[in-house]
Amino acid sequence: MEFSIRALAPEKAKTGCLVLAVYAGANPAGGNLSRSAQLADKAAGGALRRVLAQGDLAGKAGTTLLLQKIAGLAAERVLLVSLGERADFGVKAFGDAVRGVATALKGLGARDAVLPVADFAVRGRGLPWTVRSAVLGLREAFYRFDQLKTQKKPAAPALASVTLAIAGAPVTLQAQAALKEAAATADGADLARTLGNLPPNLCTPSYLADEARKLAKQFKLGVEVLERRDMEKLGMGALLAVTRGSQQPPKLIVLRYNGAAKKKKPLVLVGKGITFDTGGISLKPAGEMDEMKFDMSGAGSVLGAIRALAGMRAPVNVIGVVPACENMPGGGATRPGDVVTTMSGQTVEILNTDAEGRLILCDALTYAGRFDPEAVVDIATLTGACVIALGHVASGLFANDQKLADDILAAGDDAWDRVWQMPLWEDYQEQLRSNFADMANIGGRPAGSVTAACYLARFTRKLSWAHLDIAGTAWRSGRDKGSTGRPVPLLVRLALRRAGRRS
Ligand code: BES
Ligand code: MN
Ligand code: ZN
Repeated sequence: MEFSIRALAPEKAKTGCLVLAVYAGANPAGGNLSRSAQLADKAAGGALRRVLAQGDLAGKAGTTLLLQKIAGLAAERVLLVSLGERADFGVKAFGDAVRGVATALKGLGARDAVLPVADFAVRGRGLPWTVRSAVLGLREAFYRFDQLKTQKKPAAPALASVTLAIAGAPVTLQAQAALKEAAATADGADLARTLGNLPPNLCTPSYLADEARKLAKQFKLGVEVLERRDMEKLGMGALLAVTRGSQQPPKLIVLRYNGAAKKKKPLVLVGKGITFDTGGISLKPAGEMDEMKFDMSGAGSVLGAIRALAGMRAPVNVIGVVPACENMPGGGATRPGDVVTTMSGQTVEILNTDAEGRLILCDALTYAGRFDPEAVVDIATLTGACVIALGHVASGLFANDQKLADDILAAGDDAWDRVWQMPLWEDYQEQLRSNFADMANIGGRPAGSVTAACYLARFTRKLSWAHLDIAGTAWRSGRDKGSTGRPVPLLVRLALRRAGRRS
Protein backbone atom coordinates (compact mmCIF):
# COMPACT_ATOMS: atom_id res chain seq x y z
CA MET A 1 0.00 0.00 0.00
CA GLU A 2 1.30 3.44 -0.97
CA PHE A 3 1.01 6.43 1.33
CA SER A 4 1.34 10.10 0.51
CA ILE A 5 0.72 13.28 2.43
CA ARG A 6 -0.59 16.53 1.03
CA ALA A 7 -2.61 19.66 1.68
CA LEU A 8 -6.18 18.92 0.68
CA ALA A 9 -9.60 20.19 1.75
CA PRO A 10 -11.80 17.21 2.70
CA GLU A 11 -14.86 18.30 0.71
CA LYS A 12 -12.73 18.55 -2.46
CA ALA A 13 -11.05 15.16 -2.11
CA LYS A 14 -11.77 13.15 -5.29
CA THR A 15 -11.32 9.74 -3.79
CA GLY A 16 -12.89 6.32 -3.50
CA CYS A 17 -13.36 6.88 0.21
CA LEU A 18 -13.09 9.92 2.44
CA VAL A 19 -12.57 9.03 6.10
CA LEU A 20 -14.08 11.44 8.61
CA ALA A 21 -13.66 11.28 12.37
CA VAL A 22 -16.43 12.09 14.84
CA TYR A 23 -16.54 11.97 18.61
CA ALA A 24 -19.20 10.09 20.52
CA GLY A 25 -22.57 11.57 21.42
CA ALA A 26 -25.14 13.29 19.25
CA ASN A 27 -24.57 17.01 19.33
CA PRO A 28 -26.92 19.03 17.19
CA ALA A 29 -24.48 21.95 17.14
CA GLY A 30 -21.98 19.73 15.40
CA GLY A 31 -19.42 20.07 18.19
CA ASN A 32 -18.69 16.38 18.04
CA LEU A 33 -17.53 16.49 14.46
CA SER A 34 -13.80 16.66 13.86
CA ARG A 35 -12.55 19.69 11.93
CA SER A 36 -12.64 17.92 8.59
CA ALA A 37 -16.05 16.44 9.31
CA GLN A 38 -17.32 19.95 10.02
CA LEU A 39 -15.94 21.27 6.73
CA ALA A 40 -17.42 18.35 4.82
CA ASP A 41 -20.74 18.67 6.62
CA LYS A 42 -20.94 22.32 5.67
CA ALA A 43 -20.23 21.55 2.01
CA ALA A 44 -22.86 18.82 2.13
CA GLY A 45 -25.49 21.10 3.60
CA GLY A 46 -25.61 19.37 6.99
CA ALA A 47 -26.02 15.86 5.57
CA LEU A 48 -23.50 14.33 7.96
CA ARG A 49 -25.12 15.80 11.05
CA ARG A 50 -28.49 14.53 9.91
CA VAL A 51 -27.12 11.01 9.55
CA LEU A 52 -25.47 11.15 12.95
CA ALA A 53 -28.65 12.49 14.55
CA GLN A 54 -30.33 9.25 13.55
CA GLY A 55 -27.97 7.46 15.92
CA ASP A 56 -26.54 4.99 13.41
CA LEU A 57 -22.94 5.36 14.55
CA ALA A 58 -22.18 3.79 17.92
CA GLY A 59 -19.96 5.83 20.22
CA LYS A 60 -17.24 3.25 20.81
CA ALA A 61 -13.89 4.20 19.29
CA GLY A 62 -13.31 2.35 16.04
CA THR A 63 -16.98 1.92 15.12
CA THR A 64 -17.61 2.92 11.52
CA LEU A 65 -20.50 3.87 9.26
CA LEU A 66 -20.22 3.86 5.48
CA LEU A 67 -22.16 6.44 3.44
CA GLN A 68 -22.47 6.43 -0.33
CA LYS A 69 -22.02 9.47 -2.56
CA ILE A 70 -23.13 12.60 -0.77
CA ALA A 71 -24.12 15.71 -2.69
CA GLY A 72 -21.61 18.50 -2.19
CA LEU A 73 -18.65 16.20 -1.59
CA ALA A 74 -16.24 15.05 -4.31
CA ALA A 75 -15.62 11.65 -2.71
CA GLU A 76 -17.45 8.54 -3.91
CA ARG A 77 -17.94 7.28 -0.35
CA VAL A 78 -17.65 8.68 3.13
CA LEU A 79 -16.52 6.50 6.01
CA LEU A 80 -17.46 7.93 9.40
CA VAL A 81 -15.35 6.61 12.24
CA SER A 82 -15.98 7.18 15.92
CA LEU A 83 -13.11 8.34 18.11
CA GLY A 84 -15.10 7.61 21.26
CA GLU A 85 -15.66 10.20 23.98
CA ARG A 86 -13.58 13.33 23.41
CA ALA A 87 -12.32 13.29 27.00
CA ASP A 88 -11.17 9.66 26.73
CA PHE A 89 -9.39 10.00 23.40
CA GLY A 90 -5.83 8.74 23.84
CA VAL A 91 -3.40 6.35 22.23
CA LYS A 92 -5.63 3.34 22.91
CA ALA A 93 -8.69 4.89 21.26
CA PHE A 94 -6.48 6.14 18.42
CA GLY A 95 -5.40 2.56 17.74
CA ASP A 96 -9.00 1.32 17.90
CA ALA A 97 -10.06 4.01 15.43
CA VAL A 98 -7.27 3.21 12.96
CA ARG A 99 -8.03 -0.52 13.15
CA GLY A 100 -11.74 0.20 12.67
CA VAL A 101 -10.97 2.27 9.57
CA ALA A 102 -8.71 -0.48 8.22
CA THR A 103 -11.35 -3.18 8.72
CA ALA A 104 -13.94 -1.10 6.90
CA LEU A 105 -11.57 -0.17 4.04
CA LYS A 106 -10.59 -3.80 3.53
CA GLY A 107 -14.17 -4.67 2.65
CA LEU A 108 -14.60 -1.91 0.06
CA GLY A 109 -14.00 -1.77 -3.66
CA ALA A 110 -12.36 1.65 -3.29
CA ARG A 111 -8.84 1.81 -4.80
CA ASP A 112 -7.81 4.81 -2.78
CA ALA A 113 -8.76 6.63 0.39
CA VAL A 114 -8.21 10.04 1.96
CA LEU A 115 -7.60 10.30 5.69
CA PRO A 116 -7.46 13.78 7.24
CA VAL A 117 -4.74 12.76 9.65
CA ALA A 118 -4.65 15.79 11.95
CA ASP A 119 -8.19 15.01 13.12
CA PHE A 120 -6.81 11.92 14.84
CA ALA A 121 -4.24 13.88 16.87
CA VAL A 122 -3.74 12.65 20.42
CA ARG A 123 -3.07 15.13 23.23
CA GLY A 124 0.64 15.50 23.93
CA ARG A 125 1.76 13.94 20.67
CA GLY A 126 2.59 15.95 17.59
CA LEU A 127 1.69 15.57 13.93
CA PRO A 128 4.75 13.41 13.11
CA TRP A 129 3.59 10.94 15.75
CA THR A 130 0.08 10.88 14.31
CA VAL A 131 1.40 10.32 10.80
CA ARG A 132 3.71 7.52 11.89
CA SER A 133 1.11 5.79 14.01
CA ALA A 134 -1.60 5.98 11.36
CA VAL A 135 0.67 4.50 8.69
CA LEU A 136 1.98 1.75 10.98
CA GLY A 137 -1.53 0.90 12.19
CA LEU A 138 -2.96 0.67 8.67
CA ARG A 139 -0.01 -1.31 7.36
CA GLU A 140 -0.32 -3.77 10.23
CA ALA A 141 -4.03 -4.24 9.61
CA PHE A 142 -3.43 -4.86 5.91
CA TYR A 143 -0.61 -7.35 6.47
CA ARG A 144 -1.43 -10.83 5.14
CA PHE A 145 0.46 -14.07 5.23
CA ASP A 146 -1.11 -16.29 2.61
CA GLN A 147 1.89 -17.42 0.60
CA LEU A 148 1.37 -21.02 1.71
CA LYS A 149 -2.34 -21.17 0.88
CA THR A 150 -3.26 -22.41 -2.55
CA GLN A 151 -6.66 -20.68 -2.47
CA LYS A 152 -6.27 -17.06 -1.48
CA LYS A 153 -9.48 -16.21 0.33
CA PRO A 154 -10.85 -13.65 0.70
CA ALA A 155 -9.51 -11.87 -2.35
CA ALA A 156 -6.92 -9.17 -1.65
CA PRO A 157 -8.39 -5.77 -0.71
CA ALA A 158 -8.63 -3.33 -3.60
CA LEU A 159 -7.16 -0.42 -1.66
CA ALA A 160 -3.82 0.54 -3.19
CA SER A 161 -3.14 4.03 -1.89
CA VAL A 162 -3.94 6.24 1.07
CA THR A 163 -3.51 10.00 1.10
CA LEU A 164 -3.00 11.61 4.48
CA ALA A 165 -4.69 14.96 3.99
CA ILE A 166 -3.83 18.13 5.86
CA ALA A 167 -6.43 20.85 5.49
CA GLY A 168 -5.59 24.52 5.68
CA ALA A 169 -1.89 24.16 6.46
CA PRO A 170 1.21 23.41 4.41
CA VAL A 171 2.76 19.96 4.75
CA THR A 172 5.91 20.28 6.81
CA LEU A 173 9.23 18.54 6.11
CA GLN A 174 8.84 16.89 9.50
CA ALA A 175 5.56 15.32 8.46
CA GLN A 176 7.12 14.12 5.20
CA ALA A 177 10.02 12.59 7.14
CA ALA A 178 7.57 10.91 9.52
CA LEU A 179 5.78 9.32 6.56
CA LYS A 180 9.04 8.00 5.13
CA GLU A 181 10.12 6.69 8.52
CA ALA A 182 6.79 4.95 9.06
CA ALA A 183 6.70 3.28 5.65
CA ALA A 184 10.21 1.90 6.16
CA THR A 185 9.37 0.81 9.70
CA ALA A 186 6.29 -0.99 8.41
CA ASP A 187 8.45 -2.75 5.78
CA GLY A 188 10.74 -3.87 8.59
CA ALA A 189 7.88 -5.02 10.80
CA ASP A 190 6.35 -6.92 7.86
CA LEU A 191 9.67 -8.70 7.35
CA ALA A 192 9.81 -9.65 11.04
CA ARG A 193 6.20 -10.88 10.88
CA THR A 194 6.78 -12.97 7.79
CA LEU A 195 9.95 -14.56 9.16
CA GLY A 196 8.04 -15.38 12.34
CA ASN A 197 5.04 -16.79 10.53
CA LEU A 198 7.06 -18.98 8.17
CA PRO A 199 7.00 -22.60 9.34
CA PRO A 200 10.11 -24.06 10.96
CA ASN A 201 10.77 -26.46 8.09
CA LEU A 202 11.22 -23.44 5.81
CA CYS A 203 12.55 -20.77 8.16
CA THR A 204 15.74 -22.56 9.21
CA PRO A 205 19.02 -20.97 10.36
CA SER A 206 20.22 -21.18 6.73
CA TYR A 207 17.07 -19.39 5.58
CA LEU A 208 17.70 -16.56 8.06
CA ALA A 209 21.28 -16.30 6.80
CA ASP A 210 20.07 -16.13 3.19
CA GLU A 211 17.55 -13.47 4.17
CA ALA A 212 20.37 -11.40 5.71
CA ARG A 213 22.39 -11.80 2.51
CA LYS A 214 19.40 -10.65 0.48
CA LEU A 215 19.01 -7.56 2.65
CA ALA A 216 22.71 -6.88 2.31
CA LYS A 217 22.44 -6.93 -1.46
CA GLN A 218 19.27 -4.83 -1.60
CA PHE A 219 20.44 -2.13 0.84
CA LYS A 220 24.23 -2.35 0.41
CA LEU A 221 24.88 -3.65 3.91
CA GLY A 222 27.85 -5.58 5.23
CA VAL A 223 27.10 -9.22 5.93
CA GLU A 224 29.08 -12.10 7.36
CA VAL A 225 27.86 -15.56 8.32
CA LEU A 226 29.90 -17.61 10.76
CA GLU A 227 29.65 -21.39 10.34
CA ARG A 228 30.03 -24.18 12.87
CA ARG A 229 33.80 -24.39 12.39
CA ASP A 230 34.11 -20.64 13.02
CA MET A 231 32.13 -21.04 16.24
CA GLU A 232 34.40 -23.88 17.26
CA LYS A 233 37.48 -21.73 16.66
CA LEU A 234 35.95 -18.93 18.73
CA GLY A 235 35.16 -21.31 21.57
CA MET A 236 31.39 -20.76 21.52
CA GLY A 237 30.71 -23.86 23.61
CA ALA A 238 27.27 -22.74 24.78
CA LEU A 239 25.90 -21.96 21.31
CA LEU A 240 27.36 -25.23 20.00
CA ALA A 241 25.76 -27.19 22.85
CA VAL A 242 22.29 -26.05 21.77
CA THR A 243 22.65 -26.97 18.10
CA ARG A 244 24.06 -30.44 18.83
CA GLY A 245 20.78 -32.37 18.43
CA SER A 246 19.82 -30.70 15.15
CA GLN A 247 20.39 -31.72 11.53
CA GLN A 248 20.32 -28.03 10.53
CA PRO A 249 23.69 -26.28 10.49
CA PRO A 250 23.91 -23.36 12.95
CA LYS A 251 24.66 -19.83 11.70
CA LEU A 252 25.89 -16.71 13.40
CA ILE A 253 24.77 -13.82 11.23
CA VAL A 254 26.37 -10.39 11.35
CA LEU A 255 24.63 -7.61 9.40
CA ARG A 256 25.95 -4.03 9.37
CA TYR A 257 24.32 -0.82 8.35
CA ASN A 258 26.51 2.29 8.32
CA GLY A 259 24.46 5.46 8.01
CA ALA A 260 26.57 7.68 10.29
CA ALA A 261 30.22 8.71 10.40
CA LYS A 262 32.67 5.79 10.47
CA LYS A 263 34.03 6.75 13.87
CA LYS A 264 30.57 6.72 15.49
CA LYS A 265 30.32 3.62 17.71
CA PRO A 266 27.56 1.25 16.66
CA LEU A 267 24.39 0.19 18.39
CA VAL A 268 24.54 -3.61 18.39
CA LEU A 269 21.27 -5.55 18.30
CA VAL A 270 21.50 -9.22 19.24
CA GLY A 271 18.48 -11.38 18.35
CA LYS A 272 17.66 -14.88 19.59
CA GLY A 273 17.28 -17.04 16.49
CA ILE A 274 16.01 -20.43 17.67
CA THR A 275 14.11 -21.48 14.55
CA PHE A 276 12.38 -24.21 16.55
CA ASP A 277 12.51 -24.90 20.27
CA THR A 278 11.47 -28.42 21.22
CA GLY A 279 13.20 -28.00 24.58
CA GLY A 280 15.83 -30.57 23.55
CA ILE A 281 16.28 -33.51 25.93
CA SER A 282 14.28 -31.47 28.49
CA LEU A 283 11.46 -31.91 25.98
CA LYS A 284 8.48 -29.55 26.02
CA PRO A 285 4.94 -30.91 26.30
CA ALA A 286 3.10 -31.34 22.96
CA GLY A 287 0.38 -28.70 23.44
CA GLU A 288 1.01 -25.57 21.36
CA MET A 289 4.56 -26.66 20.64
CA ASP A 290 4.08 -25.40 17.07
CA GLU A 291 4.30 -21.89 18.52
CA MET A 292 7.96 -22.49 19.23
CA LYS A 293 8.55 -21.65 15.56
CA PHE A 294 8.22 -18.06 16.82
CA ASP A 295 11.30 -18.57 19.00
CA MET A 296 13.34 -16.77 16.31
CA SER A 297 11.28 -13.59 16.71
CA GLY A 298 14.20 -11.73 18.31
CA ALA A 299 16.26 -12.52 15.23
CA GLY A 300 13.39 -11.46 12.97
CA SER A 301 13.07 -8.16 14.79
CA VAL A 302 16.78 -7.44 14.39
CA LEU A 303 16.67 -8.10 10.63
CA GLY A 304 13.43 -6.08 10.42
CA ALA A 305 14.84 -3.12 12.35
CA ILE A 306 17.97 -3.02 10.19
CA ARG A 307 15.86 -3.22 7.05
CA ALA A 308 13.78 -0.31 8.33
CA LEU A 309 16.76 1.87 9.25
CA ALA A 310 18.55 1.15 5.98
CA GLY A 311 15.32 1.70 4.01
CA MET A 312 14.90 5.20 5.45
CA ARG A 313 18.66 5.92 5.26
CA ALA A 314 18.75 6.72 8.96
CA PRO A 315 21.88 8.51 10.21
CA VAL A 316 22.89 5.66 12.53
CA ASN A 317 25.43 2.84 12.70
CA VAL A 318 23.78 -0.44 13.62
CA ILE A 319 25.10 -3.99 13.70
CA GLY A 320 22.82 -6.98 13.97
CA VAL A 321 24.19 -10.16 15.53
CA VAL A 322 21.94 -13.20 15.16
CA PRO A 323 22.84 -16.58 16.62
CA ALA A 324 20.57 -19.02 14.79
CA CYS A 325 20.03 -22.73 15.39
CA GLU A 326 17.42 -25.33 16.32
CA ASN A 327 16.93 -26.86 19.75
CA MET A 328 16.20 -30.53 19.08
CA PRO A 329 16.52 -33.80 21.00
CA GLY A 330 18.59 -36.62 19.49
CA GLY A 331 21.38 -39.07 20.13
CA GLY A 332 23.96 -36.32 19.87
CA ALA A 333 22.00 -33.75 21.85
CA THR A 334 23.25 -32.02 24.97
CA ARG A 335 22.20 -33.75 28.24
CA PRO A 336 21.00 -32.12 31.45
CA GLY A 337 24.14 -32.08 33.57
CA ASP A 338 26.55 -31.39 30.71
CA VAL A 339 29.13 -28.69 31.47
CA VAL A 340 30.31 -26.44 28.63
CA THR A 341 32.81 -23.61 28.30
CA THR A 342 31.44 -20.37 26.84
CA MET A 343 33.36 -17.99 24.58
CA SER A 344 33.91 -15.77 27.65
CA GLY A 345 35.79 -18.61 29.35
CA GLN A 346 33.12 -19.05 32.03
CA THR A 347 31.75 -22.57 32.44
CA VAL A 348 28.05 -23.44 32.56
CA GLU A 349 26.26 -26.50 33.90
CA ILE A 350 23.28 -27.07 31.59
CA LEU A 351 20.64 -28.28 34.04
CA ASN A 352 17.78 -27.80 31.61
CA THR A 353 18.28 -27.95 27.84
CA ASP A 354 15.07 -25.93 27.39
CA ALA A 355 16.82 -22.85 28.80
CA GLU A 356 18.66 -22.65 25.46
CA GLY A 357 18.08 -19.00 24.53
CA ARG A 358 20.49 -17.72 27.17
CA LEU A 359 23.07 -20.26 25.97
CA ILE A 360 23.14 -19.02 22.40
CA LEU A 361 22.86 -15.40 23.54
CA CYS A 362 25.74 -15.48 26.01
CA ASP A 363 28.19 -16.37 23.25
CA ALA A 364 26.63 -13.89 20.83
CA LEU A 365 26.85 -11.15 23.49
CA THR A 366 30.52 -11.93 24.09
CA TYR A 367 31.05 -11.76 20.34
CA ALA A 368 29.19 -8.42 20.19
CA GLY A 369 31.85 -6.93 22.47
CA ARG A 370 34.24 -7.08 19.50
CA PHE A 371 32.46 -4.25 17.75
CA ASP A 372 33.29 -1.70 20.46
CA PRO A 373 29.60 -0.88 20.75
CA GLU A 374 28.06 2.28 22.13
CA ALA A 375 25.31 0.03 23.49
CA VAL A 376 24.11 -3.54 23.07
CA VAL A 377 20.46 -4.55 23.15
CA ASP A 378 19.43 -8.18 22.95
CA ILE A 379 15.93 -9.20 21.97
CA ALA A 380 14.68 -12.66 22.86
CA THR A 381 11.59 -14.79 23.40
CA LEU A 382 13.44 -15.89 26.50
CA THR A 383 11.06 -17.02 29.24
CA GLY A 384 7.53 -18.22 29.81
CA ALA A 385 7.91 -16.51 33.19
CA CYS A 386 7.94 -13.12 31.47
CA VAL A 387 4.53 -13.90 29.98
CA ILE A 388 3.26 -14.70 33.47
CA ALA A 389 4.66 -11.42 34.79
CA LEU A 390 3.61 -8.99 32.04
CA GLY A 391 1.16 -10.84 29.81
CA HIS A 392 0.94 -9.81 26.18
CA VAL A 393 1.02 -6.04 26.64
CA ALA A 394 4.56 -5.11 27.65
CA SER A 395 7.91 -6.68 26.88
CA GLY A 396 10.25 -7.14 29.84
CA LEU A 397 13.18 -4.71 30.04
CA PHE A 398 16.38 -5.41 31.98
CA ALA A 399 19.44 -3.18 31.82
CA ASN A 400 22.78 -2.55 33.47
CA ASP A 401 22.73 1.09 32.34
CA GLN A 402 19.77 3.22 33.44
CA LYS A 403 20.32 5.82 30.72
CA LEU A 404 19.94 3.14 28.08
CA ALA A 405 16.89 1.76 29.91
CA ASP A 406 15.30 5.22 29.97
CA ASP A 407 15.90 5.60 26.24
CA ILE A 408 14.24 2.24 25.60
CA LEU A 409 11.28 3.11 27.83
CA ALA A 410 10.82 6.39 25.96
CA ALA A 411 11.16 4.73 22.54
CA GLY A 412 8.65 2.08 23.57
CA ASP A 413 6.13 4.68 24.71
CA ASP A 414 6.63 6.71 21.56
CA ALA A 415 6.15 3.71 19.25
CA TRP A 416 3.40 2.35 21.55
CA ASP A 417 5.44 -0.84 21.62
CA ARG A 418 5.71 -0.79 25.34
CA VAL A 419 8.20 -2.27 27.78
CA TRP A 420 8.25 -2.50 31.56
CA GLN A 421 11.47 -2.42 33.51
CA MET A 422 12.26 -5.34 35.79
CA PRO A 423 15.03 -5.64 38.42
CA LEU A 424 18.48 -7.00 37.70
CA TRP A 425 19.68 -6.98 41.29
CA GLU A 426 22.68 -8.98 42.45
CA ASP A 427 20.42 -10.61 45.06
CA TYR A 428 18.99 -12.83 42.32
CA GLN A 429 22.39 -14.05 41.12
CA GLU A 430 22.70 -16.69 43.84
CA GLN A 431 19.85 -18.65 42.25
CA LEU A 432 22.26 -19.48 39.42
CA ARG A 433 24.88 -21.18 41.56
CA SER A 434 26.15 -24.59 40.47
CA ASN A 435 28.06 -27.24 42.40
CA PHE A 436 29.99 -28.23 39.30
CA ALA A 437 30.58 -25.16 37.13
CA ASP A 438 30.80 -21.36 37.34
CA MET A 439 27.02 -21.17 37.02
CA ALA A 440 23.92 -23.13 36.14
CA ASN A 441 21.76 -22.16 33.17
CA ILE A 442 18.55 -22.08 35.26
CA GLY A 443 17.62 -20.39 38.52
CA GLY A 444 14.50 -22.23 39.61
CA ARG A 445 10.87 -21.14 39.36
CA PRO A 446 10.87 -17.87 41.33
CA ALA A 447 11.50 -14.79 39.16
CA GLY A 448 12.30 -16.89 36.09
CA SER A 449 12.58 -13.95 33.71
CA VAL A 450 14.85 -12.10 36.16
CA THR A 451 17.29 -14.99 36.66
CA ALA A 452 17.44 -15.49 32.88
CA ALA A 453 18.44 -11.82 32.55
CA CYS A 454 20.90 -12.20 35.45
CA TYR A 455 22.53 -15.06 33.59
CA LEU A 456 23.02 -12.80 30.53
CA ALA A 457 24.31 -10.00 32.75
CA ARG A 458 27.31 -12.18 33.61
CA PHE A 459 28.41 -11.85 29.98
CA THR A 460 27.86 -8.12 29.52
CA ARG A 461 29.62 -6.58 32.51
CA LYS A 462 31.89 -4.46 30.29
CA LEU A 463 29.06 -3.27 28.05
CA SER A 464 26.23 -0.76 28.21
CA TRP A 465 23.59 -3.42 27.79
CA ALA A 466 19.84 -4.02 27.86
CA HIS A 467 17.77 -7.14 27.38
CA LEU A 468 14.21 -7.27 26.04
CA ASP A 469 12.21 -10.39 26.87
CA ILE A 470 9.56 -10.48 24.13
CA ALA A 471 8.10 -13.91 24.97
CA GLY A 472 4.66 -12.38 25.57
CA THR A 473 4.63 -9.76 22.82
CA ALA A 474 6.24 -11.29 19.72
CA TRP A 475 3.21 -13.30 18.62
CA ARG A 476 -0.48 -13.90 19.23
CA SER A 477 -1.97 -17.31 19.96
CA GLY A 478 -5.40 -18.75 19.21
CA ARG A 479 -7.58 -17.77 16.27
CA ASP A 480 -5.41 -14.79 15.36
CA LYS A 481 -2.21 -16.77 15.71
CA GLY A 482 0.64 -14.93 14.08
CA SER A 483 3.70 -12.77 14.58
CA THR A 484 3.17 -9.18 15.74
CA GLY A 485 6.38 -7.72 14.30
CA ARG A 486 7.20 -6.32 17.75
CA PRO A 487 9.52 -4.81 18.81
CA VAL A 488 10.63 -3.47 15.41
CA PRO A 489 8.88 -0.10 15.94
CA LEU A 490 10.59 0.29 19.32
CA LEU A 491 14.04 -0.60 17.98
CA VAL A 492 13.74 1.85 15.10
CA ARG A 493 12.67 4.66 17.42
CA LEU A 494 15.49 3.78 19.81
CA ALA A 495 18.13 4.01 17.11
CA LEU A 496 16.70 7.32 15.86
CA ARG A 497 16.41 8.79 19.36
CA ARG A 498 20.02 7.92 20.05
CA ALA A 499 20.93 9.76 16.84
CA GLY A 500 19.13 12.82 18.19
CA ARG A 501 15.87 12.46 16.28
CA ARG A 502 13.15 12.77 18.86
CA SER A 503 9.98 13.53 16.95
N1 BES B 1 11.44 -20.16 24.09
C1 BES B 1 11.19 -20.48 25.45
C2 BES B 1 10.42 -19.39 26.17
C3 BES B 1 8.94 -19.31 25.91
C4 BES B 1 8.08 -20.27 26.38
C5 BES B 1 8.42 -18.23 25.23
C6 BES B 1 6.73 -20.15 26.16
C7 BES B 1 7.07 -18.12 25.03
C8 BES B 1 6.22 -19.08 25.48
C9 BES B 1 12.50 -20.68 26.19
O1 BES B 1 13.53 -21.22 25.45
C10 BES B 1 12.22 -21.62 27.30
O2 BES B 1 11.90 -22.75 27.03
N2 BES B 1 12.34 -21.15 28.53
C11 BES B 1 12.06 -21.96 29.67
C12 BES B 1 13.12 -21.69 30.70
C13 BES B 1 13.10 -22.64 31.86
C14 BES B 1 13.49 -24.02 31.41
C15 BES B 1 14.05 -22.14 32.90
C16 BES B 1 10.68 -21.57 30.18
O3 BES B 1 10.34 -20.38 30.14
O4 BES B 1 9.95 -22.45 30.59
MN1 MN C 1 13.46 -23.34 25.45
ZN1 ZN D 1 13.46 -20.91 23.45
